[in-house]
Amino acid sequence: MALRPYIVGNWKMNGSRAMLAEARAIDRAAARYPAVEVGLVPPAPLINLMAEAVSDIAVGAQDCHTAPSGAFTGDVSAATLADAGASFAIVGHSERRAKAGHGEKDAVVRAKAEAALAADLAVILCVGETEAERDAGKAEAVVAAQLKASLPRTEGAAVRLAVAYEPVWAIGTGRVPAVADVAAMHGAIRAGLLAAYGEDGAGVRILYGGSVNAGNAAELLGADEVAGALVGGASLTAESFAAIISAAAMVAEEG
Ligand code: 13P
Repeated sequence: MALRPYIVGNWKMNGSRAMLAEARAIDRAAARYPAVEVGLVPPAPLINLMAEAVSDIAVGAQDCHTAPSGAFTGDVSAATLADAGASFAIVGHSERRAKAGHGEKDAVVRAKAEAALAADLAVILCVGETEAERDAGKAEAVVAAQLKASLPRTEGAAVRLAVAYEPVWAIGTGRVPAVADVAAMHGAIRAGLLAAYGEDGAGVRILYGGSVNAGNAAELLGADEVAGALVGGASLTAESFAAIISAAAMVAEEG
């Protein structure tokens, strides 16, 4: 892990004001591992409260709209998220790309990434194949195509971008790919980033996401080109998330 490790907790549609106690405990744990950058991503209504409750971690948004403002009932713009205290946004999560979710296509994901950057938010862009695509031997082709079509092309985008590789079949299932498969996919993503951004593509952190927990974090974070993790379920309590942060610090120290 040559790049500074980045561990991000995506709370998805979980959270309450009472859970801010976990965020505070995660913040205290993160302060013990300055080598690791830590982000936490609550549902939008908690962003402001969480941002005011923590000091050593960044607070992010799970999505943003493509437009800077306007008549889009129920949506939230990147500027409003930034104003609430978010410093980054996740875009293109598979739960939003899914037909049963919001059916977001690559072009929309790219527009969201560019809207986030325009509002001074950093971006975590998610990509990942389904199980059927992996079984058909198409995983790398699918992810490369997603990446190419959804990367933001804004001037200087690479500097404020991370990519999260999240195989859809590994999310919330307790199943993770073989470490060699993770390394191979991260290598392919790196090639795509270099093709899109030239030398700047070398500095983009590529995170792994999908059933990361305290038990498997060190092994996954030790794989080639894995610069961090996007964590769902195991980020909901300080106990499990702090163990992942600590594993990242350990791997960084060894590496
Ligand atoms: P789990 O860690 O719960 O599998 O979720 C991963 C994820 O989708 C993070 O964005």
